[in-house]
Amino acid sequence: MIMHLLLPLFSLLILSHSMSQALPLSTHSRWIVDEHRQRVKLACVNWVSHLDSVVTEGLSKQPIDVIIKKIKGMGFNCVRLTWPIYLVTNDSLASLTVRQSFLNFGLTNDILGIQANNPSFLDLSLIKVFQAVVTSLSDNKVMVILDNHLTKPGWCCSRTDGNGFFGDKYFEPNFWIHGLRKMATLFKDNPNVIGMSLRNELRGPRQNVNDWYRYMQKGAEAVHRANPNVLVILSGFNFDKDLSFLHNKPVTLSFKDKLVFEVHWYAFSDRSAWKYGDPKQVCHQVVQNYTRMVGFLPKQGYPLFVSEWGVDLRGTDANDNKYLDCFLKWVSKHDFDWALWTLVGSYYFREGVVGMEEYYGILDYDWVRVRNSKFLDKISAIQSPRHGNYYFRHFTYDNATSLIA
Ligand SMILES: *[C@@H]1O[C@H](CO)[C@@H](O)[C@H](O)[C@H]1NC(C)=O
Ligand SMILES: *[C@@H]1O[C@H](CO)[C@@H](O)[C@H](O)[C@H]1NC(C)=O
Repeated sequence: MIMHLLLPLFSLLILSHSMSQALPLSTHSRWIVDEHRQRVKLACVNWVSHLDSVVTEGLSKQPIDVIIKKIKGMGFNCVRLTWPIYLVTNDSLASLTVRQSFLNFGLTNDILGIQANNPSFLDLSLIKVFQAVVTSLSDNKVMVILDNHLTKPGWCCSRTDGNGFFGDKYFEPNFWIHGLRKMATLFKDNPNVIGMSLRNELRGPRQNVNDWYRYMQKGAEAVHRANPNVLVILSGFNFDKDLSFLHNKPVTLSFKDKLVFEVHWYAFSDRSAWKYGDPKQVCHQVVQNYTRMVGFLPKQGYPLFVSEWGVDLRGTDANDNKYLDCFLKWVSKHDFDWALWTLVGSYYFREGVVGMEEYYGILDYDWVRVRNSKFLDKISAIQSPRHGNYYFRHFTYDNATSLIA
């Protein structure tokens, strides 16, 4: 009798779980939790805002509210929004209007597209549009992680682009910290901005452990001082694959309960492993490697956020398909928080190409339809938490499904 009364209530609460977290978030052992210590599982999608024009992608294709409704409709509760340091340190760049920035790259069609879909953005400055995107996400209760992707706007990443590690041409540590502090300050009163990842995909010949501790700790403190509410997310070596140095030495920070680590994993991260080996064996070996490099962190009591992963959604890449099976099992088993690469169906301008299609994009070229609905079905299983639910501390998702079945 009681069960009958309670079940519909449970289902309602489960369905609404992504909508009303008590923010800000913090960490509790390896889990991200809300103010009531209930788990919040991040099921995010990457939304790109760091390319040459520094305009959040897609705004010439669809009205912003339509895009955000799609994000929610596809089951994501959060966006990892990428940004370049110059957006907050370089006034002559940040004060350009969208129109001017597009004109600089000859993107006249996108000017017409913005006029049609988001007319109020056309003559706003780049920084104002970035703020407007964050505000729209917040109004729609989609959580935001601000990801410093690089310093100088453009496609990321190569070992020699000058944005890879402390001391590179565009990566002077104090300048970077100054940028982080400005961005943290800009959104300090918006509780919906729940995290900041300090730098995307460290890489290149300058990588070294001493500088990592020195500057990551400094950057983390600067962000935390400017906005003590946000989760501070740290990335590792070799395109965010390797945090193994933390086996021996933890980071030292003045604060607790806000520290998260991130990792990226694609099929191409494993070089050609997927091409030749037996998929089961390769999966076993690759997972072992990831466990050694990053997967040990939850055991040490830190959340691990898989902040980039994804596949060619045309479904024709055999390596990607083998990787995907392996990846989904791994994420599901450990119930990690994650962010898919990417929302973007096509870019305004990427690597010199106008209107480049993004086959990893969950939306199609025109940002209208889901590119591959089977893929969306597949990932729906990892969008819900397996462990913990933020309304019921002792009520796990596993229990919920067995109760309802
Ligand atoms: C500011 O940005 C513009 C456009 O990307 C660039 O040409 C200029 O060198 C930047 N200035 C500084 C001081 O970084
Ligand atoms: C796993 O790590 C070992 C040792 O570092 C390396 O030789 C091997 O290529 C890696 N395997 C895969 C599939 O990444």
